[in-house]
Amino acid sequence: MHTAPQPKPGILEISPYVPGKAKAQGFEKPLKLSANENPLGCSPAAQQAYQAAANQLSLYPDPRATILREAIARRHRLNAKGLIFGIGSDEIFTLLCQTFCEPGDNVVQFEFGFFAYRIAGRAAGAQMRFAPEGDLRRGVDRLLAEVDERTRVIFLDNPGNPNGALVPAAEVRRLHAALPPHVILVLDGAYAEFVTGADYEDGVALARETSNVITTRTFSKLHGLAGLRVGWAYGPEALIDAMDRIRAPFNTSVPGQLACAEAVFDEDFQKRSVELVERWRPWLEQQIGGLGFETYPSFANFVLVRFPETPGRSAGHVEAHLASRGVLVRALANYGLPDFLRITVGTEEQNRQLIDALAEVAAL
Ligand SMILES: Cc1ncc(COP(=O)(O)O)c(C=O)c1O
Repeated sequence: MHTAPQPKPGILEISPYVPGKAKAQGFEKPLKLSANENPLGCSPAAQQAYQAAANQLSLYPDPRATILREAIARRHRLNAKGLIFGIGSDEIFTLLCQTFCEPGDNVVQFEFGFFAYRIAGRAAGAQMRFAPEGDLRRGVDRLLAEVDERTRVIFLDNPGNPNGALVPAAEVRRLHAALPPHVILVLDGAYAEFVTGADYEDGVALARETSNVITTRTFSKLHGLAGLRVGWAYGPEALIDAMDRIRAPFNTSVPGQLACAEAVFDEDFQKRSVELVERWRPWLEQQIGGLGFETYPSFANFVLVRFPETPGRSAGHVEAHLASRGVLVRALANYGLPDFLRITVGTEEQNRQLIDALAEVAAL
């Protein structure tokens, strides 16, 4: 029988990832508030290391990423053998599911949890189970209700993207304590550093103390290095060792490793990045509220806004209006949140530009 090549069962049911928009018609350099990037750019030391790496491009990268590994181990006081690096934390989610899931297994996440998890889980043949959060509240009992003997992984983005919500430290610990030992709890701390003054722990301590917690981190947000594509995970050596066996040996690049190793120690840049969000996120929430739109409490570098279905004020209309002013924000229909927009916290000038454009809609 002659048939055309076919993907594995389930592959064509995967909805592709929809990135934040990068283009606005008529604007050469639109204001991009659609991907939670760092509006301050990145650490100057990281940039210098990137440029210096131009002299080494004929060489393969270090497959163990030793310089970066030691930098992170020192900065966070970790056992260097418990670290693994990926092409962004996105690749780590894939490595996790490919290593621990087979068809018939399942992976649990919150309904509005980060989109990459479902791609990783389904690619490994796992069934995705979604804990409901229709009211945008994240109760860990809802995750636990989805767990059974075929659950291999729970992904918890904390703070969450796109909802910005936080699961407090004690609740994360309660979730972990209630899990059967065969389930890996993945605590995704992509926005961990932006949480200040809240009852929160970033997952590193649990990953150190237990045999089934892995924490993931990224250089894309706080460090402003999204274009380099580097993320890392920390967890029990046995789990990390298993994942490392299927990792492409040269997945992180020479410039990526060297620039990130510098970024780790640029505390001045990190501090400025956190302070920017601390200063302007409440301002944005207050201004947006003042225009009559509802915001949800966010612990990350973005705000989540709900728009009414009223013609002229709907999320779709607002997104289009802002784009017509050269301001790009993130529509969330693919997350099942068609009435919401997610907006990255920018610099003062950028935030004011956004509010001016939004005020035009509110005035209609
Ligand atoms: C919750 C969460 N985890 C992980 C990532 C992926 O980051 P990376 O750029 O490291 O792949 C993102 C990016 O938006 C995110 O929001």
